[in-house]
Amino acid sequence: MDKIKIIGGKKLEGKIFISGAKNAALPLICASLLTDDTVTLTNMPQLSDIKSMNALLETMGTKIDEFNDFMDGHETKTYSYRTQKFDSLVAPYDYVRKMRASYYVLGPVLARKGHVELSLPGGCAIGARPMDIHLTSLEQMGAKIEIKNGYVHADIDGRLKGAHIIFPLASVGATCNILMAATLAEGQTIIENAAKEPEIGDLITLLNKMGAKIEGINTSILKITGVKKLNGATHKVIADRIEAGSYAIAAAITKGKIELVNAQPQTLQVPLKILKSMGIKIEERENSIIVDAQNVNFEGKDIMTDYYPGFPTDLQAQFMALMTVADGASLVTEQIWENRFMHVPELLRMGANINVHGHASAIVRGVKRLSGAPVMATDLRASFALVLAGLAAEGETTVNRVYHLDRGYEKLDEKLKAVGAEIRRVSEAEDE
Ligand code: EPZ
Repeated sequence: MDKIKIIGGKKLEGKIFISGAKNAALPLICASLLTDDTVTLTNMPQLSDIKSMNALLETMGTKIDEFNDFMDGHETKTYSYRTQKFDSLVAPYDYVRKMRASYYVLGPVLARKGHVELSLPGGCAIGARPMDIHLTSLEQMGAKIEIKNGYVHADIDGRLKGAHIIFPLASVGATCNILMAATLAEGQTIIENAAKEPEIGDLITLLNKMGAKIEGINTSILKITGVKKLNGATHKVIADRIEAGSYAIAAAITKGKIELVNAQPQTLQVPLKILKSMGIKIEERENSIIVDAQNVNFEGKDIMTDYYPGFPTDLQAQFMALMTVADGASLVTEQIWENRFMHVPELLRMGANINVHGHASAIVRGVKRLSGAPVMATDLRASFALVLAGLAAEGETTVNRVYHLDRGYEKLDEKLKAVGAEIRRVSEAEDE
C-alpha cells in the first residue's frame, strides 16, 4: 500500500489547477443511465471513485469511451457513456461496499427499467448513513420496495408517478436520486427541502440538457415535470469546491500564497469568509481564487458545519488542522455526520491540543508547531487534514492508507510538489 511522506515547514507558492468535482461527477455518470443516447462528460477528475463508478456501470451494460483532453494546459479526461441495453439491473455488494455513491444507480435504473436491485451500503467510517429518505420517497412515487438479503429490491408497474415529497432533512444523495427518478415519472414531482449543493445544480443542468423539465435550480424547492424519454448531451463538470478549499488551507497553514486556477469562489463563500476573518488575504476572481497568508499570524475561529451554503462538512477536518496552529482557541462543531472527528487522535500524535466533547464538538487550542509523525486516517477528508498537518509540522510525516486520498484528490503529491512542498509517494516495498 502506498504512503505519502512529507517534510514540513516549506512555504507553498504558485498555482494549483483545480480538477472537476468528484461529488458532481458521480451522479452525472449515473444520469447517463436515463437514456439510450450518449452522454459525454468533460473535465472529469482522474480518481479511483470515478473508476469504481465506471466499473459498476460496465457490469450493468454501459459502453464507456475514455479520451484525454486538455483544459488551460492541463490534462483532464472526457468520458462518453452509452447504455443502449442493460445486461444487469443489479448493483452488487462488492461495488457498493467500496463506494456508497453506487446508490445513484437506484433512481435512474428504476425509472428507466422498472426494476433495480441495490446492495444496501451499510454504515461507514463517518456515520451510519441510512437511505430511508431515498426509499420512502420512491415509495411515495409508487415504487414497491423490499429489503431482502441485504439488497433493496425496487419495482414499479409502468412508470413512476409524480408526487409531492417533503424531505425531513436536505440530503444530497436523496435529492440527486429522486431528481433523476422524477425526470421520467408520469406527471409532476415537487421536492421540498431539497439540498442546494452546487453539485446538485450541476446535475440539474445536465438533466435539463438531456430534455428533462426541472425548475428551481439552486433553491430548496424543485419542480420536475416528467417526460417520456431523455436524449444524450455533453456537459463539463464543475470545479471541485472541496479540493479548492483544501488547497486554500494548504496555502494558509504554510503561510504561503497559492492561486487556485479554475476554482469557483461563489461556491466557497462561507469558508473564504472565515479565512478572511482570520487575517488571510483572499482575492476572488471569475475563475480563480488567490489565497495569500504570507506574514500573517492568523487567529483561531469557530466553525459549525451545515447544509449548503453553510460551512461544508467535507472541509471540517482540514479547517481543524489549520486551527491547531492558529493563535488562541477555536470551537469546531460537526452537525452533519455523527462520527467525523477521527482525525483528532492522529493530530494529537503530532502535538495538537484538541478536546472532543461528545460527538459533535471539539475545542482546538493553537500550538506553536506540530511535529511530524507516522499517521493514518479512515476517510478521505481526514486523510487530507493529516497531509496539511504534515506540511506545517517540523520533520517528517508519513500518511498511511493513501488509497483514501486517491478516491478524491487527483494527483495530490504532484500538485503539492509543484508549489514547493517536499512530498513524495512511496510504495510499501520502497519504504522497507
Ligand atoms: C454527500 O453524501 C457527499 N458524498 C459527502 O461527501 C458529503 O459529506 C455529504 O453529501 C454532505 O454534504 C457524495 O456526494 C458522493 P447526505 P450523502 O445524504 O449524499 C442523513 C466526501 O468526503 N441521511 O446529504 O451520503 C445522513 O446520515 C463525502 O466527499 C439520512 O438520515 O450525504 C447525514 O447525517 C463524505 N437519511 C445527513 O443526512 C437518508 O436517507 C446528510 O447526508 C440520507 C441521509
